[in-house]
Amino acid sequence: MNLLVTGGAGFIGSNLIHHIIERPEITRLVNLDCLTYAGHLINLEKISSHPKYVFEKVDLRDKQAVWETLQRHAITHVMHLAAESHVDRSITGPGDFVHTNVVGTFNLLEGCRALWLQQPTGTARQSTRFHHISTDEVYGSLGAQGKFTESSPLDPTSPYAASKAASDLFVLSAVKTHGFPAIVTRCTNNYGPFQFPEKFVPLMIAQALAGLPLPVYGDGRNVRDWIHVQDHCLAIDLILRKGKEGEVYNIGGECELENITVARKILSALRQPETLLKFVTDRLAHDRRYALDCSKLKAALGWSPAWDFERGLQETIQWYQANTSWLEEVRSGEYQRYFERHYLRREETFAGKSPARLE
Ligand code: NAD
Ligand code: DAU
Repeated sequence: MNLLVTGGAGFIGSNLIHHIIERPEITRLVNLDCLTYAGHLINLEKISSHPKYVFEKVDLRDKQAVWETLQRHAITHVMHLAAESHVDRSITGPGDFVHTNVVGTFNLLEGCRALWLQQPTGTARQSTRFHHISTDEVYGSLGAQGKFTESSPLDPTSPYAASKAASDLFVLSAVKTHGFPAIVTRCTNNYGPFQFPEKFVPLMIAQALAGLPLPVYGDGRNVRDWIHVQDHCLAIDLILRKGKEGEVYNIGGECELENITVARKILSALRQPETLLKFVTDRLAHDRRYALDCSKLKAALGWSPAWDFERGLQETIQWYQANTSWLEEVRSGEYQRYFERHYLRREETFAGKSPARLE
């Protein structure tokens, strides 16, 4: 398996690479990432010199560079995570979401399909896999009752969710039209180490650690279903190997909580007063509740979320407490210089590649 992970320098991608790199069936693991503000190679420091690991600084919007990367590494399997992922940014600037999430996914998909077509029919072709990592947000918002199944209609609210729904549909159309071996998974809200502190859990932890106000949108009663990032990684690892081509699988934490409850838990864990809670102007068209029915994945592959939220949150808080320098670096923009310091100097690691590719 020559596995391409896109977005491997981001939150879920870096956790995923740590999780799967030792799998014996993986010969080479290529991390394709263009290092936006959300991508930090520092997340991968522990495995950066692993013999299987290769980093490619490539932008999905650059179709030619994507194609060359796929060919150079004879990629057989793809886990596609790279995306613009923050809802608030999509409200103020939706363009990047169209270019990366829709056009970038399309570029990758077309490249992978071309490579797949080049393979002789038989075992190699049959073992090809394209796993598209998507989100519960494509289904839109729920009221107080019910859960979304894989056959619920797509009804995205934000430009982020719309761009993810569009990319899901391009992937599924390649399955239907060309028989391309792809799978789509849709997951709920992840939390855990290495999450960029613009997202709710790490932002609330960072604010509480600094004794600063915790900005809670609207009335704080919006509900999200929280899953530990390791449970998500276990699920997609399993689905890549054993999932059925052409299928969509929901992945959820089965842990629905109001935002205000999560914020209070963080304050309590850090022994900070509730007076730090600050109710601020609501997000535009803020989805009220997300919840997924994951019975399909449970029945098909025997997966269930293993992390208890109380333990997962405690350990996540402890991780941020122990990694204040990481927090400071990513908040200050220092991480953007990390690439130059640690990679541009080590050109021998990139034998055969032009330095321009690394800039
Ligand atoms: P993230 O924002 O932390 O990381 C995204 C990564 O993609 C970064 O490393 C970034 O540099 C890279 N990237 C962005 N644009 C790129 C481009 N044009 N070319 C190459 N690389 C690019 O995101 P995340 O939270 O780790 O989410 C990963 C995936 O999982 C996304 O597809 C997201 O939609 C999906 N997802 C996330 C969650 C969640 O709770 N975080 C839940 C469900 C699904
Ligand atoms: O549901 C899966 C999705 O979860 C992923 O697809 C997205 O990539 C990921 O960003 C996340 O989207 P959300 O919008 O649910 O996550 P966010 O962390 O931005 O917000 C979680 C909830 O907290 C949401 O109801 C908005 C609220 N919120 C968020 C921020 C940043 C606040 O109340 N205050 C804040 O400052």
